[in-house]
Amino acid sequence: MIALPGFAPLAQQMGSFWMPPQGSTTAAGVDFLFDFIFWICAVFFLGIVLVMAVFTWKYRRRPGVEAQKTATHNTALEITWSVIPLILVIVIFILGFQIYLDLQTPPANAYEVQVSAQKWSWNFTYPNGYIDSDLHVPVDRPVRLVMQSEDVIHSLFVPAFRIKMDVVPGRYTKTWFRATQPGEYVIFCTEYCGTGHSDMLAQVVVHPAGEFETWLDKASNFLETLPPDEAGEKLFVARGCPQCHSVDGSAGIGPSFQGLYGSSHALADGSSVTVDENYVRESILDPQVKITAGYEPVMPTYQGRLKDEEITAVIAYMKTLSGGGE
Ligand code: CUA
Repeated sequence: MIALPGFAPLAQQMGSFWMPPQGSTTAAGVDFLFDFIFWICAVFFLGIVLVMAVFTWKYRRRPGVEAQKTATHNTALEITWSVIPLILVIVIFILGFQIYLDLQTPPANAYEVQVSAQKWSWNFTYPNGYIDSDLHVPVDRPVRLVMQSEDVIHSLFVPAFRIKMDVVPGRYTKTWFRATQPGEYVIFCTEYCGTGHSDMLAQVVVHPAGEFETWLDKASNFLETLPPDEAGEKLFVARGCPQCHSVDGSAGIGPSFQGLYGSSHALADGSSVTVDENYVRESILDPQVKITAGYEPVMPTYQGRLKDEEITAVIAYMKTLSGGGE
């Protein structure tokens, strides 16, 4: 790995004109290579344009000056302008390949988190089975992400960590990082995946040393420790429901949950249904059966991804959005 002792601390805290502050061990090398290529481009661009401008002026057509026979070639010059770029591209290849290998090779003791992408949210599954819509990790520990998509191609991008990897249906893709600073960092989807693409956001929460395990313990037991409606609200957020369903009546990709429970609901086929426990359950597990009038049938199924007690908790939460229950 390339380390630049002189510049590393500054770039870590401040970021640069192009890059956010460095949040992982990968960032310094990526930034160094980026700057290296950028300055090569800048120097050559300015040099070429400057010489071109000077020559255009110096050799312009003037009255009384005849065009002279031009030189055929200059061996020394031609070798120079071939060998210098050759050396530069070899250096770029070596640096780039080193960083690429580093990004492809997680340390053997890496903490593994399963990532599932779907239109339009992220789910992170921890080794104990707990699922969260944000990625929580311990600081200073390598974390390996094993990623798959439920539908189309997405791409996980954490600018602060300088990692980006496509998430593809039908196969696993992998990436890893080692966070160096506790804090929160944004995760983007960086592969256009439909209407909600730009809302497909999540956070990486980097916990200070020793606090990650405490967080995971507490987060994993929420069904036992919270009342059903609060557990339901947590699930609602954690499973990415707010990407499509508002709770304040505003329009979204799916119907708002405000006042939904207990109401009479018009369906796309012209019939209507009363929103009760069984309708909500069916809509979560088999969302294509009864489509709400005016909405696209885009909701993914949660079959196998929400347990009965979790669905009950979500229903309890929906009831609170309709005037406190039945
Ligand atoms: Cu998922 Cu764009």
